[in-house]
Amino acid sequence: MSKIKDEISKRRTFAIISHPDAGKTTLTEKFLLFGGAIQTAGAVKNNKITKTAASDFMEIERQRGISVATSVMAFHYKDMLINLLDTPGHRDFAEDTYRTLTAVDSVILVIDCVKGVEAQTERLMEVCRMRKTPVIVFVNKLDLEGQDPFDLLDELEEKLGIQVRPLSWPISGGSTFQGVYNLYDHNVRLFQSDKTKIATDVVAIKDLDDSKLDDLVGEHANQLREDVELIDGVYDEFKPEPYLMADVAPVFFGSAVNNFGIQEMLDIFIQIAPDPKPVETSTRMVNPEEEGFTGFIFKIHANIDPRHRDRIAFLRICSGKFQRNTFYKHTRLDKKMKFTNPATFLAQDKSVVEEAWPGDVVGLYDTGNFKIGDTLTEGENLQFRGIPSFSPEIFKELVNKDPMKSKQLEKGIKQLTDEGVAQLFIREAGNRKIVGTVGELQFEVIQYRLEHEYGAKCEFQAKPYHKACWIVSDDQEKMGEFRKIKANDIVRDKDSNEVYLAPSQFLLNMEMTNFPEITFHTTSEFKTERA
Ligand code: G4P
Repeated sequence: MSKIKDEISKRRTFAIISHPDAGKTTLTEKFLLFGGAIQTAGAVKNNKITKTAASDFMEIERQRGISVATSVMAFHYKDMLINLLDTPGHRDFAEDTYRTLTAVDSVILVIDCVKGVEAQTERLMEVCRMRKTPVIVFVNKLDLEGQDPFDLLDELEEKLGIQVRPLSWPISGGSTFQGVYNLYDHNVRLFQSDKTKIATDVVAIKDLDDSKLDDLVGEHANQLREDVELIDGVYDEFKPEPYLMADVAPVFFGSAVNNFGIQEMLDIFIQIAPDPKPVETSTRMVNPEEEGFTGFIFKIHANIDPRHRDRIAFLRICSGKFQRNTFYKHTRLDKKMKFTNPATFLAQDKSVVEEAWPGDVVGLYDTGNFKIGDTLTEGENLQFRGIPSFSPEIFKELVNKDPMKSKQLEKGIKQLTDEGVAQLFIREAGNRKIVGTVGELQFEVIQYRLEHEYGAKCEFQAKPYHKACWIVSDDQEKMGEFRKIKANDIVRDKDSNEVYLAPSQFLLNMEMTNFPEITFHTTSEFKTERA
């Protein structure tokens, strides 16, 4: 195998996503423990943006600083190099999570067995479906009295719009939880409630009628036999292809806090999860095995120390070999750039990297050259696609409170929105700036950062908009008519695309009926979705 093929086949780049509190942080930590990247529990916990009140944004800024180090956690497990990309659990940072999903090849979705599928889970899953990202589901907290596992599977299929296939199965649950039966390798792992040790007792049970099973789990053995018979009857045999096509999601059961059920999942994950795949660009598909290096920026993190205005831009490598101190082309700016201190994040230590391969994420120090979605190549003019903006949920107009500082305000809001903190829409008449976010928190963060990093003072005025719709049509006459009627509600996004800000779903539906020639999209890169 060539060097590059070998490097690619070893890599698994993925993210763990969940509704807050389902157990994402705990599971991340256990993965790092298995990978030997950390020695004790508690190390990742600090990264979590906790349930702080919205007004406590200083705390959030502090936590944001910590999270630079854990944005990417690379670790070795068996022969694999695993790049685990962190996603903020806080709902207000959902957009950050959507962008991180553009840089992974697969996802592990954590569900709380008591609460089942929650709102945030459905939205995250929508993004995975749009991108056809393979998903593995981990049903967590089996030590608690949860819902019936079959009901949970039905709920997953119904609410997430994906077929599921259990690969492990709980033997009872809550206070009588015995362990899990591994449907992939046919063995039983017995539950021990222990937060520090890994459950090591694995008993091979090739035949469920074996009386060994009764000795192990007593009265629960018959229930397991019935359940497995039902599973075999209802669900197709597991095959990796439908999972890789994102048509079927394998499901595992366990308890993250007790280190239970995780190793089964990790072992199967490294076998079945995809290695880095071809990626779509404006001109062609880029194959990871290509000689020439290419990559894109999916996340930008500002330095929270105002004396150092530098930022870290996170680059996902898509093809070829990335090398330190080598000139690459920033295709949007048509500019040659080289990086003297690119950082990797192996075992939580940030260190300078000499070379990196497809699937890897490298941190580049940036003084303001990068926007989310920017592409680096060895010279070819291409632009990676698939990093859409989604319709924000809250809209406010940015009002300058210090006319002497309008230049600073312009620059500040531009840089903050380049980083992806929020979306900026400009209404041409009067150069009005409407800021759109998914949560209130961002407005406080913007206001605080504009003042402390740029010396500009601002205020926000709520705008009663419901949704942003990117509008396109082949009928220029109709577009002209629409523009005229809706002049007050039409704005431009960061790439000068036309966007209609709809005041309500009712009015949006009405416009869609009145102007069937116009298509209204709720993301900036549209292929399938409609408003
Ligand atoms: P998140 O990142 O998805 O928001 O969730 P996180 O891992 O922080 O877990 C949320 C809470 O659920 C934590 O409790 C955690 O200990 C608990 N938890 C995680 N896995 C399990 C499990 O398998 N069983 C049970 N019973 N609980 C689990 P907390 O009280 O918020 O924090 P802590 O003080 O216990 O750490």
